[in-house]
Amino acid sequence: MYHLMYIILIIVITIILINFYSKKVIKIDMKEVGKIKLNTQNPICCLGSYCVYDEDNNYVLRGNGYEQSSFDKKTYENQFSYSKEIAKFIDKNPQIKSICILGFGLGGLPLKYSKSNQIKMIDCVEIDMSVYILYNSIIDSLPKKVNYYLGDAENFLLETDKKYDLIIDDIFTSEKIFYDYKNAKKCLNKNGALFINMHYVEDFKKYEEYLKKLFSKVYYIENDNICIFCIN
Ligand SMILES: C[S@@+](CC[C@H](N)C(=O)[O-])C[C@H]1O[C@@H](n2cnc3c(N)ncnc32)[C@H](O)[C@@H]1O
Repeated sequence: MYHLMYIILIIVITIILINFYSKKVIKIDMKEVGKIKLNTQNPICCLGSYCVYDEDNNYVLRGNGYEQSSFDKKTYENQFSYSKEIAKFIDKNPQIKSICILGFGLGGLPLKYSKSNQIKMIDCVEIDMSVYILYNSIIDSLPKKVNYYLGDAENFLLETDKKYDLIIDDIFTSEKIFYDYKNAKKCLNKNGALFINMHYVEDFKKYEEYLKKLFSKVYYIENDNICIFCIN
């Protein structure tokens, strides 16, 4: 008799617990959810924390929860406003012939600017080998005027003797990565320019003040993201 009562008690407690936990609400930080881009298409290739997608005639690189790079398969054009601001800046400054791009990603910027007859040489520095392997799996080779350096961008700037007319800082992981911009200044020709992509950076004014101490002219353009130009 006692046995039966014991079993009934256990069943009742189990039912109460299941009922309680099935109604439990889990709190989700919507800011974090907003950052994650959901994909409806399967990636064409993945390596490490990156995947390449084929979407509406564009190759798109996603990694660390962000879209890192994208370009039209035929024209190499992209939709990023900062890339258009840089293109305008290059057009207005015909003395710009050499570029150093920090952060290769899937190569959207180097591919686009390599199409300009004005640009004679583009050096790219990328820390993550996997993104180059992904690039290689979708495009046979690099354009002749593009050189690829594997390693940390800040070390590259510190060690190289090269000088550029334009340095583009497009270094990101899951957030913008900053470094000592004195090293970028050292690698600029007289009147050379440093461009910094400040996407997702909220306190960019703080960096503007710091940059004004290093460069003769600093200005920013605000579109769907912030672009900072620093003139040597
Ligand atoms: C936004 S993507 C660059 C997009 C690219 N410029 C394009 O043309 O599409 C950022 C890249 O910066 C690279 N990166 C992150 N930290 C780096 C570092 N310390 N040095 C060089 N590259 C770095 C990441 O691996 C990633 O591929």
